[in-house]
Amino acid sequence: MPWDPGQYLRFDRERLRPALDLLERIPLEAAEDIVDLGCGPGHITKLLQSRWPLAQVTGVDRSPEMLERAMLSTLGIRWRQADLAEWHPEQPVDLIYANASLHWLDDHPTLFPRLMAGLKPGGWLAVQMPRNHDRPSHQAAYEVAEQEPWRARLGPLLRKQAVAEPEGYLRWLSPPASHLEIWQTDYLHLLEGPDPVAAWTHGSLLVPLLEALLEPERELFLEAYRGRLRSAYPQDEAGRTPFWFRRLFFLAQAR
Ligand SMILES: C[S@@+](CC[C@H](N)C(=O)[O-])C[C@H]1O[C@@H](n2cnc3c(N)ncnc32)[C@H](O)[C@@H]1O
Repeated sequence: MPWDPGQYLRFDRERLRPALDLLERIPLEAAEDIVDLGCGPGHITKLLQSRWPLAQVTGVDRSPEMLERAMLSTLGIRWRQADLAEWHPEQPVDLIYANASLHWLDDHPTLFPRLMAGLKPGGWLAVQMPRNHDRPSHQAAYEVAEQEPWRARLGPLLRKQAVAEPEGYLRWLSPPASHLEIWQTDYLHLLEGPDPVAAWTHGSLLVPLLEALLEPERELFLEAYRGRLRSAYPQDEAGRTPFWFRRLFFLAQAR
């Protein structure tokens, strides 16, 4: 079960909001080279190109399914398939933008200083990562994955602390940054339809877990997970499901 652009884009309005919140805080006027790391289906890469139309914008992702979707409708943007764990820009760039992607990578104390080294002096690193790991949306997945019969296969795939405390990023980014802003926003999404939180994580958190299972186990896992979420996220009187989702942002300018 690889990345599925259709499932991911099911909540495109809710997922776009933090991407725009990050984009509008970037104080970069002119740019020649911009990279969108973990660009997914490319809809935000296009927004980067609209904001800096004179720049060469490159979208990088590991997923062929996501890149195939990204390539459907864009002219002028370069697309590159690469694993971000090994990726380096060909030459220093003005902006590295990464929305909802770098939490999939390990070793943040090394990763973020390395990305800063790929910027021109005065260039910007702009990052948003989900930090909802201590909420039922994520905890329920960890709990079910650690039960039998899934524990042996899914336990090693869990990334329970994918994103550190904000103070960690402050420590790792302060040496290479001349300017640094870190903030968190907790978004209250009002989701529609049955089991909407499970549908949300199906397009992100659950991707590697479901990939490790075959039917009928995949559906059994999902049903156990959905059951836990129903009590954690009840519908309101209007039939909507309120869903809090916390996200960490930072903007760092290279010295
Ligand atoms: C949640 S999507 C975000 C897509 C897009 N940035 C957005 O905000 O809509 C995460 C993306 O990161 C990509 N990704 C995850 N790990 C990666 C890695 N190690 N190298 C490259 N891309 C990766 C996935 O393929 C996926 O497209």
